[in-house]
Amino acid sequence: MTSERVSKLLQEMTTEEKIGQLLQLSADFFEGSQAVITGPMREHDLTLATVYTAGSVLGISGAERVHQIQADYLAKSRLKIPLLFMADIVHGFQTIFPIPLGMAASFDPEAVKLASEVAARESAVSGLHVTFAPMVDLVRDPRWGRVMESTGEDPYLNSVLAKASVDGFQGDLDVEHIAACVKHFAAYGAPEAGREYNTVDLSEWRFREQYLPAYSAAIAAQAKLVMTSFNTLFGVPATANQHLFRDILRDELAFKGVVISDWDAIGELINHGVAGNLQAAADQALAAGVDIDMMSFAYAKYLQKAANLDESTRQLIDESTARILELKESLGLFTDPYRQVTPEREQAELKSVQNLNAAQQVAEESIVLLKNERAILPLARDQKLALIGPVANTGDLLGSWSWQGDQHQTPSIYTAMAEKFPQVSYASGCAYHQLNHREFDQALSTARQADKIIAVLGLPSSESGEATSMTDIRLPQEQLTLLQALAKLGKPIISVVVTGRPLDLTLVDDLSAAVVLAWFPGSRGAAALTNILSGAVNPSGKLPMTFPRSVGQVPIYYNQFNTGRPLSHTENDRENKYLSKYIDEANSPLYPFGFGLSYAEIKAQPISATQQGRSIQLKVELENTAALAGKTVVQCYLHQPVATTVQPVQRLVAFSKVLVPSKQKVELTLTVAPEELTYLDAALKRQTFTGELKFLIGLDSQHTKAISIAYQND
Ligand code: BGC
Repeated sequence: MTSERVSKLLQEMTTEEKIGQLLQLSADFFEGSQAVITGPMREHDLTLATVYTAGSVLGISGAERVHQIQADYLAKSRLKIPLLFMADIVHGFQTIFPIPLGMAASFDPEAVKLASEVAARESAVSGLHVTFAPMVDLVRDPRWGRVMESTGEDPYLNSVLAKASVDGFQGDLDVEHIAACVKHFAAYGAPEAGREYNTVDLSEWRFREQYLPAYSAAIAAQAKLVMTSFNTLFGVPATANQHLFRDILRDELAFKGVVISDWDAIGELINHGVAGNLQAAADQALAAGVDIDMMSFAYAKYLQKAANLDESTRQLIDESTARILELKESLGLFTDPYRQVTPEREQAELKSVQNLNAAQQVAEESIVLLKNERAILPLARDQKLALIGPVANTGDLLGSWSWQGDQHQTPSIYTAMAEKFPQVSYASGCAYHQLNHREFDQALSTARQADKIIAVLGLPSSESGEATSMTDIRLPQEQLTLLQALAKLGKPIISVVVTGRPLDLTLVDDLSAAVVLAWFPGSRGAAALTNILSGAVNPSGKLPMTFPRSVGQVPIYYNQFNTGRPLSHTENDRENKYLSKYIDEANSPLYPFGFGLSYAEIKAQPISATQQGRSIQLKVELENTAALAGKTVVQCYLHQPVATTVQPVQRLVAFSKVLVPSKQKVELTLTVAPEELTYLDAALKRQTFTGELKFLIGLDSQHTKAISIAYQND
């Protein structure tokens, strides 16, 4: 329902002013102390008058700067409609949290919510109103660089974390919170061959079963905006896709908020070949219900002409304008266009001790212990440690999409380790992609003097994120050569891997006694990692994506469908040629979904399954036989039920992160919600499973114990 204020404004606004609201400008229209600069205006053929009707800006922050630009804008704006300031606040503003894929490994919605809350507070005091996050695209292909921004391969985990993130960013939308823009609608995470911006082609059945749930969860959590994706889906680019935006988003999901195009995605309709020119592109995007044009200028240049000609265009412009004005209203901008920003509030909030501690806590929850032979970790303080590798002494631990983060002020792993371990020495051994003999030899001689070697390997931030698709997902050869040489010294190697994407770690696993996955752990990642290595913190992260043995297995994910000729996991598999398998590689991954070790010895045992209304409750007992407490993630999978359409061999339907004190048993109840006990039939109708359902309970997706229940759904 349109508010009185918005209705009144709509009556007073000219068509030109309305089209202005639909225009988003980039930061380069505003520079230094000047409000508007003319260079980009000339480049994009816009007049000063148009710029002063623009509804929103992207990529500008800073209390003073935003205040000044807003004041200048309002002084020139006839109806005093405040500007919206938007930006990509993906995993922290100045306090950087682990990359989203890392946070997903926490399997802890509270941790994700906390990270979004801190990010919201820091960006709100710096003048921002909207973040282009969370990205909830389901991803099963580590070749795609933006996997780092996702929460992985599972629809249920993605949905739970999407909600947590929206709740954290938006809260009650007071001045400490900002509006969330869910992206990228839809299915941007499934580009063919993992190549950026490539075609996506999914059946609508699969799209709805696996990709739609996370967007839908974010929208149910009241996310205020949705961004279109660059890709094509069902044969039509998302930005012009009426079925996607009108039928599914607006009608079915009842989304009332603002739809924004991705960067120049309206202009790209021409390259996709569905629009002959920018005018046609503008018409198609508006018809699909795209409210804001991010950086193609198609709306600003062509909508006036179309509006002069026909009533239906005027109607669409009115609807879009109303939605944008309502967003401004919900953020309180008409009452206080500055949302109480002051340099003092900003200074007190940014990178506060409290925020940095939160980043460390979330990083500690996110780090995953992948291997720990003979309990080589945790490390005692008095050993001689050689810290070797190109990532050992760098601040490049923040990851892509941390434009406000500062690598130079980010403590390196070596700095943090040296504070805890008096006998740690360091040598780089090689650069990320370069090896010279002097560095290499020095690293070997440093390693020779140590009891244990910690190899800190990985990729720089610039090699994950947008436009960083890769075909080879092994560590660079230079680093593998270094690791092989270190292994020849015959000392135990602990490999720490810093990465934005799942990698083929087969060789690393072979050569190391322990493997620790740090992701890009953020501003306080080095301290978090040190706490894990020293045992001050017991690792509890679990993989939100399957790690392949080699790139040829990609896409590989745990919740696959069965085939008519599956492996039987008996001798027969080797003898029978006609099975769904490779002749040169195992089917199984190197590390499965949900996997991650602890220093404690924890086991999960299902106790009972009961039906409560339409939900199922599973009682599980956890026992920790170790002398130290540990957190773990109990996971409950629904085993492939019989249905009229094929179902995943197993799929996550509930999980819980729990602390199990040392030498104790803990009992907990997992609730499987009724929605998780449904599926889509071939006519895209939702059906409920009936009869015997088998649940698999475990601490990862491969080692589970079954419990069954007869499920009644009437
Ligand atoms: C990305 C979006 C991002 C936008 C604005 C685009 O290139 O795909 O995710 O929000 O730029 O920075």
